[in-house]
Amino acid sequence: MQPIVLGIETSCDETAIGIVRGRTLLANVIASSVDEHARFGGVVPEIASRAHLEAILPSIERAVADAQISLKDIDAIAVTAGPGLVGALLVGVASASGLAQGLGRPLYGVNHLAAHVSVDYLTHEKPTAPTIALLVSGGHSSLLQVDDITGSITKLGATMDDAAGEAFDKIARLLALGFPGGPAIDREAVGGSATAIDFPRGLTTSQDWETRPYEFSFSGLKTAVARYIENTPAFIRADVAASFQESIVDVLLLKALAACKSTGIDSLVIAGGVAANSRLRAVAAERCAKAGIELRIPAAGLCTDNGAMVAALGSLMLSAGRPATHGAFDADSSLKVEQVSL
Ligand code: KG4
Ligand code: ZN
Repeated sequence: MQPIVLGIETSCDETAIGIVRGRTLLANVIASSVDEHARFGGVVPEIASRAHLEAILPSIERAVADAQISLKDIDAIAVTAGPGLVGALLVGVASASGLAQGLGRPLYGVNHLAAHVSVDYLTHEKPTAPTIALLVSGGHSSLLQVDDITGSITKLGATMDDAAGEAFDKIARLLALGFPGGPAIDREAVGGSATAIDFPRGLTTSQDWETRPYEFSFSGLKTAVARYIENTPAFIRADVAASFQESIVDVLLLKALAACKSTGIDSLVIAGGVAANSRLRAVAAERCAKAGIELRIPAAGLCTDNGAMVAALGSLMLSAGRPATHGAFDADSSLKVEQVSL
């Protein structure tokens, strides 16, 4: 029988519990406090922490019930140790530590970003390694070379200003589409033209390709969209959404495919909340097929924050024989992507 791993995720506004047996998903409970943040236009850390405190025990209980197991069946616990909001992370880490101690089971403090990438394990038995990973979330946008998801990740480049998800959220606010902005822009763009407005592609001049091939920048795009809206009183919202989205998708994939080409790695994983974007998924499929690159993108529901991804990484750590995290540990709000576990 494969080991059962419970994963706890509280780095932002989702209190999320996942349970896997080996690579089979048994439960995936997500309690989001997003509605409480919406009127502030972004996640308020204090509100998130309080919501985690209220939701964590009922969520664990529900996940265990959904999985049709009892707590003592759990073989190991994994928890997001960072990066994220420190107060939010601490609720998860403290709960996981208590649970692991109470049950006498090993505890893995794992990296949220590596967990996003490793959720692919629930769909594909063998994690492709090496692979290039395009990690695009609300707080991070990076290109990674993953030689071993349980311990060897190299950062090739990252955003120099906003994360891709953050850019979606900011432009959605300008367009009065609400929060979180990614899904709202994704929906709005369906009725618009991606070629209506020629928005800039950040860091893609020939000089940029020489000096910063794997870096991203979305602040120029954000300014261009703001200026366009200001100067175009009768602007068509769906066209702005679609053209903005196209610029982000284009740049993300240009750089991800360039990374595949220059490293000779013909495999790409796209992960993180923005990987749920329908246009990104469609254009990635087209371009990867053309370039002979094997593409993996988790199911849309597993791209945004969830506990299954943390459980999946815990399960991979366990089967790779990686040591559990020893003793008491703190959450690390700025945990580096290269550090897969504590
Ligand atoms: O990975 P995630 O759930 O949380 C972080 O770790 O940050 O990512 C959240 C981000 C938000 O910025 C949200 O707007 C974006 O992912 N997002 C999307 C879509 N769904 C979520 N962006 C574009 N299109 C989507 N469909
Ligand atoms: Zn995330």
